Amino acid sequence: MMDQRRAPIAEAMRRYAGDGALAFHTPGHKQGLGAHRLLRELVTEEGLREEVSLMAELDDLHAPATCIREAQALAASLYGADAAYFMVNGTTGAIQAMLMAVLRPGDEVLLPRNAHRSVLGAIVLSGAHPVYLQPEVHEGMGIAMGLPPETVAKAVRKHPEARALVMVSPTYYGVASDLRRIAEILHRHGMLLLVDEAHGAHLRFSDDLPPQAMDAGADMAAQSTHKLLGSMTQSSLLLVRKGRVDLGRVQWAAGILQTTSPNQLLLASLDIARLQMAERGEELVGRAVRLSEELRRAVNGTDGLSAFGRECMTTPGASALDVTKVTVSVRGLGMSGAEAEHILRHAYKIQCELADAYHVLFIVSYADTQREVERLRDSLADLAGTYRKGSSFSLGCALPETPPQRMTPREAFFSPSVEVDFEKSIGQVSAEQVMFYPPGIPILCPGEEITAECVDYVKRMKALGLKATGAIDIELRSIRVLSST
Ligand SMILES: Cc1ncc(COP(=O)(O)O)c(C=O)c1O
Repeated sequence: MMDQRRAPIAEAMRRYAGDGALAFHTPGHKQGLGAHRLLRELVTEEGLREEVSLMAELDDLHAPATCIREAQALAASLYGADAAYFMVNGTTGAIQAMLMAVLRPGDEVLLPRNAHRSVLGAIVLSGAHPVYLQPEVHEGMGIAMGLPPETVAKAVRKHPEARALVMVSPTYYGVASDLRRIAEILHRHGMLLLVDEAHGAHLRFSDDLPPQAMDAGADMAAQSTHKLLGSMTQSSLLLVRKGRVDLGRVQWAAGILQTTSPNQLLLASLDIARLQMAERGEELVGRAVRLSEELRRAVNGTDGLSAFGRECMTTPGASALDVTKVTVSVRGLGMSGAEAEHILRHAYKIQCELADAYHVLFIVSYADTQREVERLRDSLADLAGTYRKGSSFSLGCALPETPPQRMTPREAFFSPSVEVDFEKSIGQVSAEQVMFYPPGIPILCPGEEITAECVDYVKRMKALGLKATGAIDIELRSIRVLSST
């Protein structure tokens, strides 16, 4: 039985700083001695005193033997994984390590198109060939829902050589897919389930939330501890089930992709976030679940607003909802999510997590109490009463067909590219990803042919005032295409 009341990394740091060894080592601020006042105010004297790294007492992230090894073992035990890796380049780094550990150049990988850009980056790095799958889109809300197990079964039959499926669950909007069934299908065919669980670090601590990927049979899951729990931005966990995955290769891949000078404060914050969940996870996440349901009820009782709940999880692909993501539709007020975000930010001093054409999304986390949630509830009610602009509107644009894939994202990345006028780019091969929220599904991925349908869709979305994400020119007046085409 492991002692979850310990925080080995944080303890080793305090011991080292307390020992008073004179610092002739990195980092250059020398335990705060040379730190500018502003940095000192930001990080605190004690934080700077303990911000050392690479000392024997503090272990080595790339060959952990003492406190990091112990802290990672505690995290693995709390999360029910066989191994946990502390990651200091966010979930982006965790996803890259996850894919690099198991994919080889040329391997086929099944990939729902609502993948985060970090997954596409990992595809470029690994040289794997993506086989794109289309997730379900909720017609009324326009957002990407989950991936139906039936879609996975079909893809597995069509691509029996595929090595793995990489998918996001839950989505940014909190929609979880049926990972148990998906894992069964994949494993039956010798394939791996790799989950981008950036939005799922808290799931294990409440039975009212969807099961986390590790508990549903996934082989690996990348979690943003920093997004939904209490570690510092940039710190994430990579959780692994051994058997189909070689742990040595995971460590190796993480070592290639991460700095050799990991920030000790980030590592300690992961250690402490795990300790906090071990001590009070069920109580705190349970409170977030209760408060978010109260908020959802209040929103649904407000004229002009609505927030979908578990009742919407009947859409194919959607299996369960993380209710702590409260997605409020402002369509009934005749305004866009971006307009509502602006008003909430400036008139009410409330910042949402995400705004799309129809919605503003709020995260109720373990840190929130009745007070914060009541303020949000009252502000939303006031917004609906004061700022109503007119009747509901609809984008009414169906997603274009997935364009023909002319080459892999890796080939596209390494090919010379030029910037061209977007409206004149039909027939060329895109070097970039282009996506709108909703639905958060790319209409173009690197290596795909730009079709007239795509250009037309972009024109219509832009006319509605929506901004693209993924491309360098967010106005999409221009796009980078491969120069050899
Ligand atoms: C679904 C998803 N996956 C991966 C990431 C990458 O996480 P990080 O910002 O920690 O690198 C994000 C970040 O927003 C995300 O939303």
